Amino acid sequence: MNLPDIRDIIRAVKDAGALITDKADDLGVRKKGDSDFVTDFDLAVQSFLKERLHLLCPEIGFLAEEEPESALITDRPFWVLDPIDGTMNFIRELGLSAISLALLEKGETVLGVVYNPFSGELFSAERGGGAFLNDTPIKVSDVSELSDALAAVGTSPYYKPKTAECFDIYRELFLRCVDVRRLGSAALDICYVAAGRFDLYYEYILSIWDYAAARLILTEAGGKITNTEGRATASEKKSPIVASNAKLHSAVLDIIKSH
Ligand code: IPD
Ligand code: CA
Ligand code: CA
Repeated sequence: MNLPDIRDIIRAVKDAGALITDKADDLGVRKKGDSDFVTDFDLAVQSFLKERLHLLCPEIGFLAEEEPESALITDRPFWVLDPIDGTMNFIRELGLSAISLALLEKGETVLGVVYNPFSGELFSAERGGGAFLNDTPIKVSDVSELSDALAAVGTSPYYKPKTAECFDIYRELFLRCVDVRRLGSAALDICYVAAGRFDLYYEYILSIWDYAAARLILTEAGGKITNTEGRATASEKKSPIVASNAKLHSAVLDIIKSH
């Protein structure tokens, strides 16, 4: 099967981004669970891209966050979409949300696009082709000591029973690094590591649509992404995530393992 042209995919994602920035007064916010929300805009982006991707490549499967019945089948190419990563940021108008779209083949990401329509920043990668922020190649930082590192964390808001353990880890990262950030979009966090803005990122649990696109962007930029055991992120639906500039990876894993 011929894989799609990334330029067509970028165009589709940018068109979908216009749906989010053209905001209505009523976002149609609904609660899915504790601390977990969805808006009419998540659903609009998802159905727009589902249709557009189907027109571009009808033989590729489709998995998306707001379509929970869709299953990940790893023996054929599959789109994995988070229509809005950072829904709470979107509701609160923080300008830090992204459309995250990955193409998986045999469980691995072969193409990834993460687009923040509020900043106009589009991160992209194809396997073996390097990583880009808009048209500019990006690479991870050279920081090799935690004491020089800016760390990012996600607080896994849907897993509050794990708060004590997670915050112990954030506390140690805060004490050992320069400082800690919490952006509210995992896809952007990982892309920011790829661009050298952050040196590392940790979150207790992410879903595959949060990290599938950004993991390729990060590895193509020279970084590393694993679970907390240090193993490659499989294409399970959920995984703990450690992302770094590669140089700091074992130091971060050691901190996590010690808690
Ligand atoms: C969430 C964001 C957040 C992260 C959560 C994710 P959503 O995605 O990426 O930063 O901490 O774990 O679920 O719900 O806004 O798509
Ligand atoms: Ca998400
Ligand atoms: Ca989402």
